[in-house]
Amino acid sequence: MDNVLLNALLRPETIAVVGASSVPGKIGYTVLDNLIKCGYQGKIYPINPTATEILGLKVFPNIIEVPGKIDAAVITVPARLVPQVVEECGKKKVKGLIIITSGFAESGRRDLEEQIVETAHHYGMCILGPNIVGTLSNSDKLNASFAPFLPLNGKASLVTQSGALLIAIDAATYTRNVGFDKLISIGNMADVNIADLVIWLDEDPNTTCISLYIEGLKDGRQFIDAGLKAHKPIIALKSGVSAHGAAAAASHTGSLAGAAKVYGAAFQQAGVIQASDLSNLFDRTLALSLQPPMKGDNLIIITNGGGVGVLATDAAEKYGLPLKFAPEDVQTELKKYMPEFGSAKNPIDLTGQAGNEWYYDAVRYAIAQPWVDGMVVLYCETAMTNPTEIAHGIKKALNDSGITGKPVTVSFVGGEKSASAMTYLIKEGIPAYAAPDVAVNAMAALREYDNLRHMVSEAATPCAPSDQAAARAVIRRVREEGRNTLTEIEAKQVFSAYGLPITKTLLARTEAEAVKLAQKIGFPVVMKIVSPDILHKSDAGGVKVNIKDEASVHDAFRSILANARNYKAEASIHGIAIQEMAPWGTEVILGSVNDPTFGPTMMFGLGGIFVEVLKDVTFRVAPVSKGQAMRMLGEIRGAPILAGVRGESPRDREAMGNLLCNYSHMILELGDEIAESDANPVLVYEEGKGLKVVDARIILKKK
Ligand code: ACO
Repeated sequence: MDNVLLNALLRPETIAVVGASSVPGKIGYTVLDNLIKCGYQGKIYPINPTATEILGLKVFPNIIEVPGKIDAAVITVPARLVPQVVEECGKKKVKGLIIITSGFAESGRRDLEEQIVETAHHYGMCILGPNIVGTLSNSDKLNASFAPFLPLNGKASLVTQSGALLIAIDAATYTRNVGFDKLISIGNMADVNIADLVIWLDEDPNTTCISLYIEGLKDGRQFIDAGLKAHKPIIALKSGVSAHGAAAAASHTGSLAGAAKVYGAAFQQAGVIQASDLSNLFDRTLALSLQPPMKGDNLIIITNGGGVGVLATDAAEKYGLPLKFAPEDVQTELKKYMPEFGSAKNPIDLTGQAGNEWYYDAVRYAIAQPWVDGMVVLYCETAMTNPTEIAHGIKKALNDSGITGKPVTVSFVGGEKSASAMTYLIKEGIPAYAAPDVAVNAMAALREYDNLRHMVSEAATPCAPSDQAAARAVIRRVREEGRNTLTEIEAKQVFSAYGLPITKTLLARTEAEAVKLAQKIGFPVVMKIVSPDILHKSDAGGVKVNIKDEASVHDAFRSILANARNYKAEASIHGIAIQEMAPWGTEVILGSVNDPTFGPTMMFGLGGIFVEVLKDVTFRVAPVSKGQAMRMLGEIRGAPILAGVRGESPRDREAMGNLLCNYSHMILELGDEIAESDANPVLVYEEGKGLKVVDARIILKKK
């Protein structure tokens, strides 16, 4: 989306309100009143066919008659009138339309929505909405909305798909003490979408953190790209994670790919930090908008109370920053700022006696230690100390230390005095919270931001050369036969073209050929029915394992055919696959779906009961780098099994990393063809001994 257009839309120099009304209580009145009341400095033009003056401003009967240029128009006329108004705005060369009106795609009138987008694009305009509350900006004193007031001033900016949530957040900025520069309601996203605003806000000089409330993205890959390019922290709260179109999917992967997991993976890949709920969105946004990223894992906690120290310690472990003891020299120095019975290990317990000076000395010294990557300062209100003085002491200590690149969060637990001390700290750029675990969670967000920044900088290049043409030739033959399902042999040919190690598999059409191929592969072998109409081969009695000699090949051939005929008389049977019998290893599963939002998406997990019962799987949007693939191995609960438990040697993680990386490139490159695929099971051997894809499945998109 063109930056010039977005500037005009969101930071307009002149603005019209089409549908301005003189009737208090109407949205057209409120928007105009808000623009005036909040101190918008640009020119405001109310448009109304019958009025002559509203709220002291001259009214124009239509936008075309306004003299001079208009950057943005807020539209507050009923939906049926919007197409005509958009046309007139186009003729007037307006750049951005803020369409508050409801009654478009959200209520079944997609046609009307498409019509206004077409007209807007015809005239080179962009649309925010429709079905929005509007847009607000503290730095521009712009309240082009029907939200009651500008939010508490701050450095974060929020984009929300829910208008109601914008209004709720607007008020809560004051009660929660979390400031925002801009609040933008995006509604139906008929034109300008979340990715466009992420890119725009990334360049906005008044925004240091981009905060998002997302119900559903339209173009997931565009969002990932925007996240990857951003230079500022992005935090997202995703709602509606319970019912994602998983039910209709035929594969394991499909049924396991709920929105929470796929969105979670996509956010991680886009470098987007997640909020667990609305409260967490506020808390994390505050820290991310005020503090630098935490560049290492060493967190130091300074406290005057054991209880809050323990709460913070528990939280540190829970949120992935387990505390370590401070180095001896740091402990020795810190001991100077506490009584004999204090503790300098970590948490640094200055004890209830701690006054302003001890806090000052401890904070100033600790933040400057190279060992310390981030600091949480806790304080419980005591009768001997003044919270405001402690807050000033902390601020002064940080200033005097000269250290600016390390994050600090604070929690003051107490009453009104503590609350006002925290207000002071926030104004001074130090995020402060009423509970110690929240201060730690906010610090964890700063650590996560740093980790994600490094993660997204890894290039996702394939780990092995691939032969896309060979894979497509297999798919073409399947299509020519009017099929959507590849046989196991065909699926393995495609896998093999992408460097995935498969078990040697040959097709026998006759019993005699089966014997010959079994001899060629070497006993023992596995025999499996090959039919595009039988997906679940074992259920059909179509699999025999550990066939050790010629006589058994004859028996197996006949019984597999008979079973298959019994199972599905009309099934087209290509023959019987003769396969090398891979030695048993740890079973893992790999799968892919074509996610409606993000496209080709892959899943990895331990096979068997782990995937069936525990659903112990992890997801990524394709492609993944080798580094991301290796992280996927560590994400499942069963990770210790791969690392080697109870004297078992570790599994070949390197081979698994390559497998995941290559598989992700396969599903992406063939994304126009593959609907779903599985490698299940994959048998993984001990370190250095590789792995084998034992069974493979590919289902093509319907064309
Ligand atoms: N040009 C300019 N003004 C016009 C035109 C025109 N072509 N035609 C009519 N008007 C005037 C009307 O005369 C009226 O002014 P008046 O009060 O002086 O007569 C004004 O525009 C508004 O028109 P009304 O017909 O009175 O419409 P009303 O104000 O009742 O509703 C609205 C319009 C608010 C856009 C409504 O249709 C709507 O969509 N409401 C929902 C909006 C909403 O909630 N959006 C956010 C969703 S998110 C959330 O839920 C929080």
